[in-house]
Amino acid sequence: MLQGKRITLIVTGGIAAFKSCEAARLLMKSGAEVTAVLTEHAAEFVTPLTFEALTGRPALTTEWRKHPGGPMPHIDLARTSDLILVMPATANIIAKAAHGIADNLASTLLAARRSPVIFVPAMNEAMWKAPAAARNVEALRLDGAVFLGPVPGLQACGDKGPGRMMEPREVAEFIEGFFAPKVLAGRRVLITAGPTYEAIDPVRGITNRSSGRQGFALARAARDAGAEVTLVAGPVSLSAPVNVRRIDVVSAREMDAAVQEELDGGPCDLFIGVAAVADWRPGAVAERKLKKTVMGVPALADLIWVENPDVLTRVGTRPNPPVTIGFAAETAEGAMLTAFAREKCVRKHASFIVANDARRALNADTNEIRIVGPDSERVFGPATKLECARFILECAAELLAKRPRQA
Ligand code: CTP
Repeated sequence: MLQGKRITLIVTGGIAAFKSCEAARLLMKSGAEVTAVLTEHAAEFVTPLTFEALTGRPALTTEWRKHPGGPMPHIDLARTSDLILVMPATANIIAKAAHGIADNLASTLLAARRSPVIFVPAMNEAMWKAPAAARNVEALRLDGAVFLGPVPGLQACGDKGPGRMMEPREVAEFIEGFFAPKVLAGRRVLITAGPTYEAIDPVRGITNRSSGRQGFALARAARDAGAEVTLVAGPVSLSAPVNVRRIDVVSAREMDAAVQEELDGGPCDLFIGVAAVADWRPGAVAERKLKKTVMGVPALADLIWVENPDVLTRVGTRPNPPVTIGFAAETAEGAMLTAFAREKCVRKHASFIVANDARRALNADTNEIRIVGPDSERVFGPATKLECARFILECAAELLAKRPRQA
């Protein structure tokens, strides 16, 4: 995904520097050409040799030594980098970059930069919260810099709070999407994902085998495409992509309430209902575990079922609805799959339905999809769920382009 992209990785002096080795490895694995620049203090934590071995390129630490690319590494790298990644970014390098201070190779390169820059801060939580750090971060943001993290948690010094560096896997994943075409720039996207869980009693419930992976892949692809993304997730064991707002819910009614609240709260351009929402729930949740039989009568067999709200239909029938996309996971293929999807598209007032054969898609990494509108059909795949997500969003962007923006 990063084939041909030149990334300069600036490593500054923090204990999290050892994790930057993993980031370099992951970026290389995605096809990027990575050049590491270490400050003097970074080299106290990790050696330039480690980065040379991982990237296959000389790691630079100073201006004052012969450099294979020419006599001015800060200018060479500034000219040739597609992206500068500062990881870990200490309070010191952030302050220098915010003020244009150029007193070592890393800060001089930042002062001379022509490419986008991403800072991945790591520092004590009190340093991060300090007014000076906040001012510097704000100044860099206004200059167009992107900040990833820091995240809350236990710190190397023993303190707890926002200061931990974001994990290399999340950073690499973000960068993989950084160069994607911004077909949803400025758009607000709401996605539901995963199963719902309808409680029967404190220990039992009804759910389904949805893993949430297709919905999470859509959230990631929509973020990569430049959208502001909110993900309403049922119970899944997945972490949300960086910079995606996540709302966790359990039942269909909670999912419906969260979606309605989001739509009431502000404009939304695109809604994608990927969640496998339970159609029915028990009429009442028993306070205690139901016994198999009550006086010889099977207790579970007596459950009364009540229909859940249809989240997708309730979005599609709102006044001035967003572009509304539904999913249909069926145990059907070919013309039958298309017919099921088309019926759902009309019944649920969707712009189009993404149909697939659930037997192939459930818990798999790949998917094969049909985009079915009231009188159109496009087939895509088999492909990874992320590739499918990108295709779905391209189709959605085509529809969005024909509409005025939501105010
Ligand atoms: N959906 C929803 N709320 C529900 C049920 C379904 O929002 N209570 C949405 C799903 O998120 C999906 C689409 O509707 O986008 C189709 O879901 P599906 O379960 O296939 O539809 P049903 O109407 O339940 O049809 P079926 O009879 O095939 O179960």
